[in-house]
Amino acid sequence: TSMAKTFKYIIVGGGVAAGYAAREFAKQGVKPGELAIISKEAVAPYERPALSKAYLFPESPARLPGFHVCVGSGGERLLPEWYPEKGIELILSTEIVKADLAAKSLISAAGETFSYETLIIATGSTVIRLTDFGVEGADAKNIFYLREVDDADKLYEAIKAKKNGKAVVVGGGYIGLELSAVLKLNNIDVTMVYPEPWCMPRLFTADIAAFYEGYYANKGINIIKGTVAVGFTSNSDGEVKEVKLKDGRVLEADIVVVGVGGRPQTALFKGQVEEDKGGIKTDSFFKTNLSDVYAVGDVATFPLKLYGELRRVEHVDHSRKSAEQAVKAIKAAEDGKTVEEYDYLPYFYSRAFDLSWQFYGDNVGDTVLFGDNEPASPKPKFGTYWIKDGKVVGAFLENGTPEENSAIAKVARVQPPVADVDQLAKEGLSFASKI
Ligand code: FDA
Ligand code: NAD
Repeated sequence: TSMAKTFKYIIVGGGVAAGYAAREFAKQGVKPGELAIISKEAVAPYERPALSKAYLFPESPARLPGFHVCVGSGGERLLPEWYPEKGIELILSTEIVKADLAAKSLISAAGETFSYETLIIATGSTVIRLTDFGVEGADAKNIFYLREVDDADKLYEAIKAKKNGKAVVVGGGYIGLELSAVLKLNNIDVTMVYPEPWCMPRLFTADIAAFYEGYYANKGINIIKGTVAVGFTSNSDGEVKEVKLKDGRVLEADIVVVGVGGRPQTALFKGQVEEDKGGIKTDSFFKTNLSDVYAVGDVATFPLKLYGELRRVEHVDHSRKSAEQAVKAIKAAEDGKTVEEYDYLPYFYSRAFDLSWQFYGDNVGDTVLFGDNEPASPKPKFGTYWIKDGKVVGAFLENGTPEENSAIAKVARVQPPVADVDQLAKEGLSFASKI
């Protein structure tokens, strides 16, 4: 390894967490040549959420460098040239294929070796593919997944090539809901297919889902629930033509978008670092069981202090904050200091069409729906509280103002007691505004 490039700190992965970590390193002070980011992607860290939204708009779509980090949280945009200006080495188009945590070295696909004193694992998630479970014909052309900017470029081209065509969207989660909306905005005929009785079941109640399903139906999106895609046929060019469903139905398709979940990218480190709940186990400072290895963002399974348990969170707000926490902890430790434990309030959001929701806290316990959840209302505004052990622990709001969103965040943090559930339903948002 005489050829090894050596850095004090290496971040493997160049996504959201890597970008926010780099900014924090620069804030805390990092000397030229101390920090490298190694990314499989060809571009500097960017705000991944843009890919399923404005990146695919029919009119003036968002493009890089417009959404490099840290614009997604209202910060200054870190353009590609920012990294060398700060003495940070941004090593792009470089996939790490082997990690040896005992030897503190990483090897790229091209055979380069990198050594570090401290490693931050920020490899994020990868998509689950239908080919992973052998769905017949799932390798046809024009079947798309969406994780990185390259995927979005391919999908964008297909949308342009298949003008006024038909799309089948497989999956009723985040990707399914956001992509169906943006395909429809592109005047594509959209059919969604998912196995559950309602969309986004990992967060939505039946009442919440009914609003979005109704709204999507009013936009002309077809929804087929309770079944899955079991096969695809293609034309003589190898392009997808039909989607075969388990219930026997066959749907025509020029484009298929699949969003059936993600999987944290931990394979490189298997057996070398402790794992839990599918991710790399960390403490409140995102340090793993190895004192020189940290894990942040989608891959980290960390103590969620508020709920007294280990969790993994696959959302952008946590990827930003966990990265900042890890860098603060690393720098503090060097000065023999400590930082406060990570005390995260889960925050998820989504936007599609004119809709925009936010959720804070934990979606466990009984639920109370409030407000106007009629899909055809001119200005629907509604929400839900989750109540556990007599306290509000989670809150969801569609179409909230910034003040109202802050109010529901506060409720989820403070966990006020609820004396009367019927009264809470009547008070609705005003309950949150009083806290
Ligand atoms: P992230 O996936 O951002 O970055 C990982 C990086 O590591 C990638 O650059 C990858 O190429 C690289 N990498 C992986 N293995 C490597 C290797 N072996 N060698 C080199 N590089 C490697 N969340 C939310 O709260 N609201 C939202 O609206 C959205 N919207 C959204 C849209 C889309 C299309 C996606 C895919 C995801 C979202 N999310 C979201 C989720 C959010 O984007 C996600 O939680 C964060 O990007 C996670 O940040 P990480 O840095 O952990 O991974
Ligand atoms: P998801 O977990 O949100 O949804 C997966 C969905 O796939 C399930 O709800 C189910 O409907 C469906 N499904 C599962 N197996 C299926 C099958 N065999 N056939 C058809 N449907 C099936 O995952 P996703 O939507 O793929 O998102 C991927 C990742 O990107 C996640 O980490 C997610 O958090 C992230 N993301 C987040 C946002 C956001 O926070 N707004 C937006 C986009 C993506």
